[in-house]
Parts: sequence; C-alpha cells; structure tokens
Amino acid sequence: MPLTDVFQKIDTNLDRYVRELKELLAIPSVSTYSHHRGDVRRAGEWVLNHCKRIGLEAQLHDTAGHPVITAFRCHHPSRPTLLIYGHYDVQPAEPEEDWNALPFQPTVRDGFIYARGASDDKGQFFTYLKALEVVLAARGDLPINVKLLVEGEEEIGSPHLGAFLNKHREQLKADAIAISDGSQFSDTVPAITYGLRGLAYLELSVQGPRTDLHSGSFGGIAPNPIHALVNLLDRLKNPDGTIAIPGFYDAVAPLEPWEREAMKALPFDEDKLKAYLGLPSLCVEPGYNALESKTARPTLDVNGIWGGFSGEGAKTVIPAKAGAKVSMRLVPHQKPQEIAEVFTRYVKDLCPKEVRLEVKALHGAEPVLMSRDLPQVQAAARAIETGFGVAPVFIREGGSIPIVNLFKELLGLEAILLMGLGRPDDGAHAPNERFALRDFKNGIRSVAALLFEMETCCVR
Ligand code: BES
Ligand code: ZN
Repeated sequence: MPLTDVFQKIDTNLDRYVRELKELLAIPSVSTYSHHRGDVRRAGEWVLNHCKRIGLEAQLHDTAGHPVITAFRCHHPSRPTLLIYGHYDVQPAEPEEDWNALPFQPTVRDGFIYARGASDDKGQFFTYLKALEVVLAARGDLPINVKLLVEGEEEIGSPHLGAFLNKHREQLKADAIAISDGSQFSDTVPAITYGLRGLAYLELSVQGPRTDLHSGSFGGIAPNPIHALVNLLDRLKNPDGTIAIPGFYDAVAPLEPWEREAMKALPFDEDKLKAYLGLPSLCVEPGYNALESKTARPTLDVNGIWGGFSGEGAKTVIPAKAGAKVSMRLVPHQKPQEIAEVFTRYVKDLCPKEVRLEVKALHGAEPVLMSRDLPQVQAAARAIETGFGVAPVFIREGGSIPIVNLFKELLGLEAILLMGLGRPDDGAHAPNERFALRDFKNGIRSVAALLFEMETCCVR
C-alpha cells in the first residue's frame, strides 16, 4: 500500500500546516482559569471550523463546562471506524518570564514550534486533522470511517466528558480509539503507550489565628499555620521517599517479571535524563529502577505551597493561613477516591488542634493498562514504522489522561491506541513547550498510514 502520493503532498503543504497550527496555538485556552473561559470557547470554535473546512461534519456541544467538539466522516457502513480523541485546552503558561518568546505567540526556531500547547495537545491533535485532510485531498475519500472527539477540559480532569460520553455512547461507537497525546520514548525511538498512571489531586488549607499577627507581640502563644502545614507535608513521606500514608500501597498491583524484563530491555539513558533535568542523581523508589519508578510506581508530590510573607526584605508576621496543593500519581488498582480518602484521614488525624485544616479533592484520574496484543495495536505499530521509519517500543507513561478508562467502560473499547507523537523533552506543562516539526510531519505520515492499516486490520 504505497503512500507516496500522500507523503509528497505532506511535504508540499507542511509550511501551510505550520501556519495554521500557529493560529490555534495563539489562542490562550487555559481551562483552569475562569478569566480565559472565552478563549477556551474560541479555541473550540476554531477546531469546529477547521474540521468543517477539511470536510468533516462537525458540531460544537455546550456542556456545563467548556465545549466538546465532535466531527464525523462515516461514508462506509461496512468498514471499520476509528474514534480520535484529543484536547484543545492547555495548562497555564506561568512563569512567563522563563519563556524565550511569549507562550501564546507561536514561533518557529531550529526545527521546533514553540508555544503553550505545541505538544500537549494542540500540535498532536492537529496532526490527526492534517492526516485526514491530506488523505482526502490525495485520494478523494477516507479508507475508513472516522469520528473525532475533542474536549476543552482534559487539563482539569475532564469533569464533564463522562456524562457526554454516556449520552452519546451510540453515536461514538467505534472499532478503536486513537488518543492524540503522549510522547515517544526518546527523540529517536517512537513508542506506543500501553499504560498511564492515575491521579488524585488535593488542596490543603490551614487556618491559624483569625488574622495575621505581629510575631513579636504574639509569637510564643499563637500557632503558626505554616509550621503546622509543613509538618503535615513532611509526614506524607518516609525518609527513603516512600509514601507514609497508611493504606496507600494496599491496592497496588505488583510489577510482573515479564514486564520488568521488557522495561529493562528499553534503550533508557539515565545519564541523558539526569543531564536534561540538571540533577546530579535521581530519587528512585527503593527496589525499583528509574524507569519503573517514573512510570509504573505510585508517587506523591507537593505542587505548590503558600502562606505568609515572601516579598522583598523582612516582615515580622505570624500568618493567619497557609496552603498547599498535593498530587499523587496512581497505578493499577489504586482508586483516586479511595486514595483521597486515606490521605484526608491521615492528615486530619495528624493535624494539631490549635489550627483548622480543610482538605479539598480537586480532581482525579483512574490508572489504566491497555491491551497490547490486539490487531488494531499491531496496525498502529506498523503505521508508526511507516511514518517515522523506525519501529515503536511499548512503554508505560507516568502522566494521566482522565477519560481513558471511560472509553473502555462506557464505549466498550478495548483497542486504545496511544501513539505518542511528541517527545519527553518537549516541555509539556513547562516554559518553552515545543513540538518538533519532524515529529509533526512524521506524525501526519503515521496517522495517514494508520487509516489504511485500519481498513484491513479489524474484520467486522
Ligand atoms: N498529555 C498529558 C498526559 C500525558 C503526559 C500522557 C505524559 C502521556 C505522557 C495530559 O494532557 C495531562 O497533562 N494530563 C494531566 C491530567 C490531569 C490534569 C487530570 C496530568 O497528567 O497531569
Ligand atoms: Zn497536559
């Protein structure tokens, strides 16, 4: 099935594709900020119009949160259907001063496009749109049916997508789902991801005295909420880095010997990773190696902490309140809600009586493992090899995609294809996020190849 004509068209049009992607990247669709609500909608509308322009039947669906876009092209009742999922929302861009160019003024430099969302996930999702467009242009039709589902709330835990999936479960039926997210194993080794960690994300607030106080007049009698908070945070982990919360590890499925062997065989370069992170050494869970620790074992991290005075110079004050955000990455078969419960119970029990502690669960995601041996997954592996010129390895990823388990549960989809097109050093969620133009191009080639592979891989 030579795709020479399709690949030639990709080469001819790549500059235009990049210009279009820049338009989408220029919209600051930060889903967590209410003041960006209008921008999130604008990005959704941009996706809607683009889908229409390339020949899909597209619709914008209002939800209780940010809109969902669906776009269909189902002209072959007897052929397989591929559902494609992506998200057009992005994470906040702060600290903006650490960016070399402004986060929402996309710039191309040294073979990369830089902007918030370049890799996670606008660039990757857009890759799928361009593959559909180019196949339609070269062949006049798509070899299979496609259904797109693009949401604007992935980065805040997809709070409304479950209800949407449930309501539209019949229309969204498919033979496989491709998730336009994730990354390759390295800049030279593409990958298929078969595992994602889950997430439990909580916020702690500690209230001390009614108001801020002079630390001389009241020091010695007033409890300090920052001290109470850091004591609590300190007791979340043991000195060896394992998590001290009773019950935290109870449901964790042990890593199987075959999987540990397979992970050992991956071309993992720990020195390169240390150099990228600017660290002399890594903090790895005892009994596990770095790769296992970062993808297949649970973790706990404080994401942010606030309270008191941190301006210029010194202010003598006992603050009235302090707070922190804490996230835990989960693995099968930990449940986000149960973990949030054991966490809350533990910190509440530990908290001294002189201060008031409030714990709020912000969002969560289920950990998932996907089947590796299905014909659709093999088709995806061949498609990547066609697009990138290198066969993919199979990996587990440490990040989370909150809705993935519901594709299984609500749509009955076993074939979940996660062909990560980005790279681990794309800077997702960090300053100077980027997407390599080479990955953009090879990604479009891979997705085009997937459409043809899918035509024959699943007999119906
Ligand atoms: N693209 C990531 C998920 C991801 C990261 C997949 C690395 C594979 C490798 C996604 O956009 C993301 O950041 N998800 C959030 C989910 C959360 C906000 C519920 C995450 O993992 O923090
Ligand atoms: Zn993300």
